[in-house]
Amino acid sequence: TRPLKVALLGCGVVGSEVARIMTTHADDLAARIGAPVELAGIAVRRPDKVREGIPAELVTTDAMALVKRGDLDVVVEMIGGIEPARGLITTALEHGASVVSANKALVAADGAALHAAAEASDADLYYEAAVAGAIPLVRPLRESLAGDKVNRVLGIVNGTTNFILDKMDTSGAGYSEALDEATALGYAEADPTADVEGFDAAAKAAILAGIAFHTRVTIDDVHREGLTEVTAADIASAKRMGCTVKLLAICERAAHGGSVTARVHPAMIPLSHPLASVRGAYNAVFIEADAAGRLMFYGPGAGGSPTASAVLGDLVAVCRNKVAGTTGPGESAYTALPVSPMGEV
Ligand code: NDP
Ligand code: HSE
Repeated sequence: TRPLKVALLGCGVVGSEVARIMTTHADDLAARIGAPVELAGIAVRRPDKVREGIPAELVTTDAMALVKRGDLDVVVEMIGGIEPARGLITTALEHGASVVSANKALVAADGAALHAAAEASDADLYYEAAVAGAIPLVRPLRESLAGDKVNRVLGIVNGTTNFILDKMDTSGAGYSEALDEATALGYAEADPTADVEGFDAAAKAAILAGIAFHTRVTIDDVHREGLTEVTAADIASAKRMGCTVKLLAICERAAHGGSVTARVHPAMIPLSHPLASVRGAYNAVFIEADAAGRLMFYGPGAGGSPTASAVLGDLVAVCRNKVAGTTGPGESAYTALPVSPMGEV
């Protein structure tokens, strides 16, 4: 079987782990996919940075030339942000490559157009890593629960803010000190404002709500309050009341089913609630569905290695589709439900 050519866009916290696992697990991946996977190029911004285990001849600063090569089977986007990621993904799809992305900001802003571009090219667009690191949520919602009716998705979807709140609560660390630590551990976004102001969680809420309720939700539809207003005194008074503070994402179908709401804000959680015991950069999400009842998904929500696990799961899936000459499920939006940030009043 011919090798499948894969290009990586970005080799930072997530990309370097993806490259490492692709290299060290090459034989296992080939066996699972049914064809060997060949690393065809790695686009970065700073070519001279020392990158352990990365063959220098694969590194380029011209990401656009890489995706225009025309012989790529899969492009894995791990740059982040809107541009140049959007142009690169669109060009990759136009040139026949399937795309795997970890980019929640872009999918939450422009997912519908990206899915349309993938469909027009008969290619896949997968982004399990965009939501909650290693925790499978996108595929369970899109595939495993496709025959059920999901009514609510609720939980902690940002590792950085959970890490900060946990540190402030349990070790009395200051906000800035905790944020610096989360950044050093590779949990925070390139601009951590996205984490602490709630943009990252809002992007994830938009993606989850769109898939859960089969409608289109963008980040602009999500009510957003971040962490920056939460003080050490708030956390201490929550503790006195037998509670802890968590940043929650809540996506709900209205009781009559005619609209959906999505919001992100800090909330006081009783210490007896399972979400109260989610520590560090872990995430936890409840999905409530008519037939399934209440499901809980829990695990590492950020960091290079957990996120690489989700990226590689998508890579195996789209490579299997390439080998089979097919594509997986595309955008599941088939209704046009009104979306309001806070629900009906
Ligand atoms: P990093 O900042 O660590 O890495 C970004 C990479 O992109 C770097 O290798 C950088 O190059 C490269 N890059 C930046 N601009 C360009 C450009 N114009 N052309 C080519 N390469 C470029 O980010 P992360 O790895 O943390 O995040 C990547 C993506 O994964 C983001 O979408 C993020 O939201 C998402 N994500 C991150 C998680 C995490 O825990 N970190 C978890 C889940 C998703 P250079 O190395 O030269 O600087
Ligand atoms: N910055 C994000 C977080 C990375 O802290 O959750 C994972 O998506």
